Parts: sequence; structure tokens; C-alpha cells
Amino acid sequence: MQVNGFPHTTLWYDPTQQGVFIIDQTLLPHRFEIISLTRLEDFCHAIRNMQVRGAPLIGVTAAYGLAMALAHDPSPINEAYAAEQLLATRPTAVNLRWAIERVRATVAQHDGAQRGAIALQEAEKIRREDILNGEAIGQHGLTLLQRIYHQHPDRPLNILTHCNAGWLAAVDWGTALAPIYKAYHAGLPVHVWVDETRPRNQGASLTAWELQQQGIPHTVIVDNTGGHLMQHGQVDLCLVGSDRTTASGDVCNKIGTYLKALAAADNQVPFYVALPSSTIDWSIDNGIDEIPIEQRHSKEVTHISGMDQDGVIRELRLVEQSPAVNYAFDVTPARLVSGLITEHGVFSATPASLAALQQKLAAALHTNKTV
Ligand code: MRU
Repeated sequence: MQVNGFPHTTLWYDPTQQGVFIIDQTLLPHRFEIISLTRLEDFCHAIRNMQVRGAPLIGVTAAYGLAMALAHDPSPINEAYAAEQLLATRPTAVNLRWAIERVRATVAQHDGAQRGAIALQEAEKIRREDILNGEAIGQHGLTLLQRIYHQHPDRPLNILTHCNAGWLAAVDWGTALAPIYKAYHAGLPVHVWVDETRPRNQGASLTAWELQQQGIPHTVIVDNTGGHLMQHGQVDLCLVGSDRTTASGDVCNKIGTYLKALAAADNQVPFYVALPSSTIDWSIDNGIDEIPIEQRHSKEVTHISGMDQDGVIRELRLVEQSPAVNYAFDVTPARLVSGLITEHGVFSATPASLAALQQKLAAALHTNKTV
């Protein structure tokens, strides 16, 4: 996607500098800075403190973190240590575990010093696939958006999104915003309602920034506005991402997603979730009982940061003395989800439909292994 008119991705490896480069997302939208990660601690710090965030990007970063750790020390002891450290950074997005398991499975077939190079190759493969998956999600979602737009071709298509599930949450394209980028380039008049997404404001700080950079019409709203807009026919569909989706179609995403899904159901507004298949946790069925929900520091609730009139980024206290709690994600039950837009097409949020996707993935894996 574009940053100040130039194409950019969120993360890349530079072999000449033997480092991974990322956009420090904690500084957006005020400052655009690239930082490099080389040591395992850098990767863990970047994920935990959300310099990189969003399920797909967390996965890619973890893959590189493990690969770089193996490039320094390819021993199985170091591999286990690095994997454990990375897994402990953030608990909810399953892409983290998925990426680490994938790199570990690849290096398991090799010995000695070559394990570092093999791991780096696998991390690069995961990165490239992430871009292709985002684009494929965009293409499948475009067909859906075109269909919904043609129900009211007299006005722009109004899409409500929560948190940031755009290219900043992946390597490029993103998940929920990928169909919007495709639709915009296909000439569909789109307008995006951007939930600010307290407490960390990924909507106001990241989604609004990336939509503005691509020239896509959008409006930032406070998190409680969606229901009102839906009651007044101003939302044609909700489109969000996912950090973990169960084999039965329950969707875990940024806190507040569930309330949007409830409002959407009450107002017959379609509620779609876009995700790469690496976000599906095939080992669980019940999202409410089984998905670990990250609890972050209460300071993210009691304080807020922004730029003052002198251009200085400052943190302000909103709450005096009262305790606060900060659940980062919630679970939207499958019954409230109209469909799951994946890189392999749109699936119903049902066990049977997802089992068909799982078969498709197994067949694709088999074909890749035999060619
Ligand atoms: O806490 P974050 O910023 O990592 O949360 C991100 C989200 O909730 C996204 O919606 C989700 O990861 C899907 S990203 C394509």
C-alpha cells in the first residue's frame, strides 16, 4: 500500500544488514518511523508493546524472530527458548503459534548451522504468502461488496469497521480492508465508518491513517456510534478482522466487536469477518470458553496519548484513582456472523462449511508437497 505516494510493506528482511525492518506503529499517525529488529528481545518487545500488531503481522514477526534467533544459535535448546519467549508475548492471535510451529516443523528436518538459513527462508515464505492471502481475501470480498452495493446503487457503499484490520495489521493489503481497497480500485463508491477503538485507538490512529493515505473516503466515529448509524440505515455492512476463529465459526476480535455484531443482527445489517486460514484454530470449537483473552495494562484505559499543539506526543491521565480493567478482545458467536471471507473464498461460520475449507487446505498442502 501507499505511504506518501510510495509503495510500502509493514515488514521486510534485509540480508545485507541482517535485520528485519518494521514500521513502529506506536508512533502513527503522528510519526512514520522505521526501526530494525535483530535480537530475539527486539522481536519480543516489538510484539508485546505493539510496535507490530494485528494477527497476521504478529505471526510473520514471530516467524522472523525465531529464524533470527536460530541464525545466531541453531541449537535445539535455543530454538525451544526462543519459541517459548515469542509465544509468551501475546496470547490471543493464534497466528503467532501457527507461524512458530511452521518454522519449527521446517527446521526439524535439518541439522546444524543450515537451520538458521532454512528458518529465514520459511519466514520469508510466510511473509510472501501473507501478501498473496491478503490480495485473495480482497478479491473474494470484492465480489461480495459489489453484490451489496448493487442493492442500492444510488449511494456509496457504507462499511463499518472496528480496530485495524488493514495492511498495517498484515504485511500488505490486510484482511477486512483488503476488499475495500479492491472495491475502491474497481471504481465502487465506498465510504468507511472507522470505530476509534478504545483503549489503544487502532481505528482512529491506524485505520484512518491508512485509508487517508490511499485516498479512501472515511469518517472516524466513537465506538458507541455504530448502533445509531445502523438504526438509521447508514451502514450497509460491517467488515472486521479476527485474531482467532474456531472450527465452528466463533470469531475473536478486538474488544467491542461483539457489540457491533449484536447491533448488526438487530438491524439486519450483514456482519462479515475477513481472515487468512492461519487465523483459524482448528483445535477448538467454543470461542467463549476456549480462546485466551489478553488482558493488557489498565494504564491503556486510564490514560490517553496524542499530539499537542506544539507537535509533542503526550500522555494524559483520564481517570483519578479508580481501578480499570482492560480486556483486549471479545468473542462474537458464529450465529451472529454472516460469513467468513478467506483466501480460498467466502465460507459460512458453521462447522460443516469450515470442515470443507479444512479439506481444501489439506488438498492444497498435499499438492504442494507432491509437485
Ligand atoms: O491488539 P491488536 O491491535 O493486535 O488487535 C488487532 C485486531 O483486533 C485486528 O482486528 C485483528 O488482528 C485482525 S487483523 C487483520
